[in-house]
This record gives sequence, C-alpha cells and structure tokens, in this order.
Amino acid sequence: MPLGAFNPHSPQTLEIATLFASILILSAAIFLIVAGLIAYIALRYRARPGQAEPARDFGSRSAEIAWTAIPLVVVTGIFLVTVRAMALIDAPLHPGFAPDLVVTGHQWWWDARYPNGAIAVSEIHIPAGRRLLVEIDSTDVIHDFWAPQLARKMDAIPGRPGYIWLEADKPGTYQGVCSEFCGAQHARMHFLIVAQPEPEYSVWLRRQAAPAARLPIPVFERKCAECHSNPLKGPDLTHIAGRQTLGANLSPNTRANLALWIEKPQSVKPGNRMNDQQLTKDEVRDLTGYLEGLE
Ligand code: CUA
Repeated sequence: MPLGAFNPHSPQTLEIATLFASILILSAAIFLIVAGLIAYIALRYRARPGQAEPARDFGSRSAEIAWTAIPLVVVTGIFLVTVRAMALIDAPLHPGFAPDLVVTGHQWWWDARYPNGAIAVSEIHIPAGRRLLVEIDSTDVIHDFWAPQLARKMDAIPGRPGYIWLEADKPGTYQGVCSEFCGAQHARMHFLIVAQPEPEYSVWLRRQAAPAARLPIPVFERKCAECHSNPLKGPDLTHIAGRQTLGANLSPNTRANLALWIEKPQSVKPGNRMNDQQLTKDEVRDLTGYLEGLE
C-alpha cells in the first residue's frame, strides 16, 4: 500500500494514525450507544392498540447533568490527546533555525536542496532512522507536500515557508504527492522519498553535490541550459541519470521515455512549462545520450 496514511513508517505518522484510529473507535462506540438507545426506546415505548397518550414528563436534572458532563469529558479527552500528538509531530518554528533540507514546489515538480549544495529533483533522499527538519517553500502557486507514510501534510506557500519533520523508520522508497490543486498537472506532481542507511546516504549526498559528470554539448547549451540552470524555470539536470523516474515520478527513467520527453514534452505532460524545442532526430539522440551520461 504505497499511499497509506494508515501504514505509518515514522514516529510522527504513527502518532497521527494512532490518534485517528482512537477517535474513530471512540466515535463508533458513541454512535452505536446512541443508535442502540434510540432503537430500544422506539420499540419499548411504541404506540400499542387501546393505549392512551402517555403522561408528559418535563425536565430531568440528572439527565441534563449526564448529557452535559459526558460530552464535556469526551471532548476534553480528545483535545488533550490531540494537543499531545501535535507537540510530538510538529517541527519547531524558530526563525533562523537552519533546516536540514529545503524542499520547493514548482509547477509541476519538486526540488530538494541540501546544505552541502546537492540538489535532488522529485526524488528526495533521506537517512533512515534520523529525522530531518525540512523547510517547505514554493516559487509560484500554493502546493502541498504530502508523503503520507512519513510526515504530516504541509502547504508550500510562496514567501511563507512551513517546517516539518521528515523521517523514515526503515530504508525504503516512499511515495509522495502534491495535495493542493495547483494547475493543469497537479495530479502528476508526485515525488519519491528514498530512505537509505546512513553510510549509503552520505555517499549519495556527496556525489549529488559534485558537478556534472560531462561538459555540456553545444545543443544543450543552445536549447536547454537557460531554463535548466534556473530553478525558477526548470528542474536541475546535473544528475538526471541517477534518478529512477522522469516528469515528477510520471514515467520510469528509460532511454525511450527520456527521448520522448526531449522530443515532445507536451505530449508527455500537457501544459508543462517546457515547449516543444523543434529538435531534429539527431539532436534528440545527442541530448538523450548526453543526459544519460549524467549520473
Ligand atoms: Cu502542486 Cu498540486
């Protein structure tokens, strides 16, 4: 179950799932008691042939105290466990508190910037078993960062960063989605979170911060570099060959999919910000080969 908010894989989401299940069970119990009493009373006191109107009964102090006190106790209990869960889940909000990772939403992809200069696109690596303080930003419209198994949701609002803890108990690959309608390709603004054992993560982080493995070829400089070196315009491609997927987790990162994206970006993801570059077959082949070398 890749998108399971009910299948938590971090202490924070376990807390959320437990809170949700507790309130659901409590609500179900209250519903059954109330519905059961209504059914019982409807049958027990139903009109019977030959029976006169029953005597009217006005006011009952003990009933009034009971139906005030019981909900008050229930709601106070829910309030207290919710406040406790929020205290455990929410990241601190210190201005000037340096985040471990800055994740930015764009129409329509995500990038993650690490303090050592590494940039990851739509595939965020984290160390398993260690929580990171993540800042969530946007450069255009409001998005919402949601990896249901690992963390709470957080809106990505331009000019107003939000903070979450991001953590995975075990190594693995976890799914994430944009959870706020943000335009034509909102539904395909997915991402992956790859939780790795600490030594593997350090190696990845170091390699991801290194410059591109090859010098840009002329057609790349001419057609691609302007947008793809500006995070306000296009995703960074420095290590594109190391990614599992293309187009914000839209398709597997294969040679054929990469070539199709380069040749006809609008056919792959209609409405995306990359226009058809009118490339020749040779240029598509050269660009595909060049990008495939950027591990
Ligand atoms: Cu970004 Cu919806």
